[in-house]
Order: sequence, then C-alpha cells, then structure tokens
Amino acid sequence: MIYSLLINILIVLLCPGMRYNVTIQETLAKTVQVEAVSMHDAKMAVSQLYRDSNIILSAEDYIDTEITVDYNRSYYKSPTGDFTLIQGDCVETLSKFKFGFDMVFADPPYFLSGGGISCQSGKVVCVDKGEWDKPTTPEEMDAFNLRWLSSVRDHMKENATIWISGTHHNIFSVQQQLLKLGFKILNVITWAKTNPPPNISCRYFTYSTEFIIWARKSQKVAHYFNYDLMKQLNEDKQMTDVWRLPAIAQWEKSCGKHPTQKPLGVLARLIQASSEPGAWILDPFSGSATTGIAANLLGRRYLGLEIEDEFLAMSKARRKEIENHQVRTDYLERLVKAKIILPPDNVFVADSSEYMYGVPWLL
Ligand SMILES: C[S@@+](CC[C@H](N)C(=O)[O-])C[C@H]1O[C@@H](n2cnc3c(N)ncnc32)[C@H](O)[C@@H]1O
Repeated sequence: MIYSLLINILIVLLCPGMRYNVTIQETLAKTVQVEAVSMHDAKMAVSQLYRDSNIILSAEDYIDTEITVDYNRSYYKSPTGDFTLIQGDCVETLSKFKFGFDMVFADPPYFLSGGGISCQSGKVVCVDKGEWDKPTTPEEMDAFNLRWLSSVRDHMKENATIWISGTHHNIFSVQQQLLKLGFKILNVITWAKTNPPPNISCRYFTYSTEFIIWARKSQKVAHYFNYDLMKQLNEDKQMTDVWRLPAIAQWEKSCGKHPTQKPLGVLARLIQASSEPGAWILDPFSGSATTGIAANLLGRRYLGLEIEDEFLAMSKARRKEIENHQVRTDYLERLVKAKIILPPDNVFVADSSEYMYGVPWLL
C-alpha cells in the first residue's frame, strides 16, 4: 500500500501535467404526445412546438436534443372502431398488449427480392419488393418465422385459426415453425392464378401459384369452418383446396400500389370460410390492409400492424374509400360477380340510402 503510494507521488513529480479535451454530452429528455400521420410529421410537429413556445436553451444547460418517437401508437382508427392500424414491428407491438383474435391472416416477407425480373402489363420489371423482402439464410428465415408466429399464437383465442401465404421461398419454413409451436395444419390451399404473368426467361414452367397454409391454434379445440357457405358458393359442390382466382386487378389499386397486394377475392373467401360476422381479425404484416378492407366489407373487425409509412397511408385511404356508399357497393358487386360472396336477397336500388344489400352486416 505504502509502496504504491510512493510510486504515484514519484509519477506526479516526474511527469509534467497533460491537457485532455473532455466532451460532455447532455441529453434533454422530454416526452410529448402529438398527433401525426407519420414519424417524420411527428418530429416536425415537435420541432414546431419548441419554436412556438420560444424555448431558448443556453449552452450551459443544453447540448443536444434527441427527439425520438414512440411509434407503437395507433396510427389510425376508423370512426366506427372496426379498423385499426398500428405502426411498428409486429412482434414488438404485440408484446405490448393482450387480446384474443378469432382469426389471423399473415402475408409475411417471402424473402425473394434478390434482383430477379418478371413481366407486368407487357413490360419487363424488377421483382424486388423492398428491404424487408431481401433474401436471408435458411436459419435466419426460420428464426424470423418462429418469432412472429409465436407472438401471434399468444394473441389467438383457443379456437382461432391462422392463414399464412407464401411460395416455395418461405412456405416450408413457415410449415416447420407451425409444427414446432403446436399448431394443427388443416389445409394447404393452392391459389392457382387464372392470369399469371408469363415467364420471360423461358427456362422454367410459368409460376402461377401461391400457397396458403390454414392452421388452428390447438390440436384439440375445434375450429370454425363455414362448410355450407363454401359449398353454396361452389355450385353446391364441396369446395376443394385449389382456388382458381385471378391475380390483383387494376380496380383494387385505386389508392396506390403495394408491391405484394393480395386480391380482395382471396381474402374475402378465406375470411368467410373461417370467421363469423363481428369476429376480430389480425394481420401482422398488413401492407395495404387488403385483409382489413375485406374484413370490413364482410362485417368483421380488424387490427393491422405495419412498419412502412407509405403503406399505412395507403391503408387509411383504402378504408376511407369504402365509407363511400357507392364504392362499397361497387366492390361488393364485383365480389358477387366473381362468386366470392352470395348475391343479395333484396332488390338493388342504387340511389337509395335504405339500401342494405340484404345482408345484416351491412347495416
Ligand atoms: C407481403 S406484404 C403484405 C401485403 C398485404 N397482404 C397486402 O395485401 O397489401 C408484407 C408487409 O409487411 C411489412 N412488414 C415487414 N416486416 C414487418 C414487421 N416486422 N412488422 C410489421 N410489418 C412488417 C412490409 O412493409 C410489407 O408491407
């Protein structure tokens, strides 16, 4: 002890003093709540609040103001409360609340945006969808699918079912994780597109299918299946697991384009098959909220989780669009024509506000 003290004194006596530049970083933390449609707008609104209240911070008590936005807040809620969007990563968002959904539809990343090309409306286009869809390793894909499926499962009622769409890129990984988590696979639907884009390389068969796994949460608890309605919609023959339905049509893109938007027809069919009017439906990868639009057209309630500002804005516009009676009617008529929903029982009177379409959920 005495020895080390002597050494220290010697160092101080022998070495001249050194000058050090020390950076002190102070952060002023303050939480405020603002209403905004995007994270960028929220930051702008907060900056404006600072300017308006004339807050002047001197260098002594302020160095840096960090504005962070807690974006796990509701992004949009419809006036009737049957359509809610929350911005943020689905697993993180789900970890913040408890709720039991009746049905889930998930269209997760297929991990196929590796710079490939395809043909759309006669033009050669790149098939890349976005950063969220970039290819990954098989191990990472399994981990990703296990993580979100596990947190979604915790938010399903015991008799609830889940539908997950995919192609060969991701669907086998999804199936493996479902089994690990104790789901019971009920069907694997093959959606055979009646109008697939041509294969421009001419080195493969034309890709014309997607798969949709239908599974229930529990091995033992029975699920809901509207067998009779499906049969009725299929000219009174049992509906098979091959669905011949068209790819997305132009009329479904009235509020903008999402690179992997699903057709309303596919969603309307599976929602009717597996849920009753009034049911709560979750979509953890909401995109342009096709699931929510189909759910609301069919009298179900919806929660969509999505990261991207652009797609949330598009979803909100789509939801507002169907508040217009004429648009709503037009969409329902298209679904009737495509034999996705039953025709109305009563006579259609286009300009009457009394018009109910003959189904109670349109009241
Ligand atoms: C295949 S798209 C869904 C398209 C949707 N079915 C539709 O009809 O518009 C997947 C969506 O999930 C979003 N996404 C990706 N990772 C996410 C995550 N971890 N949490 C929430 N959304 C995510 C992407 O931004 C993308 O819009």
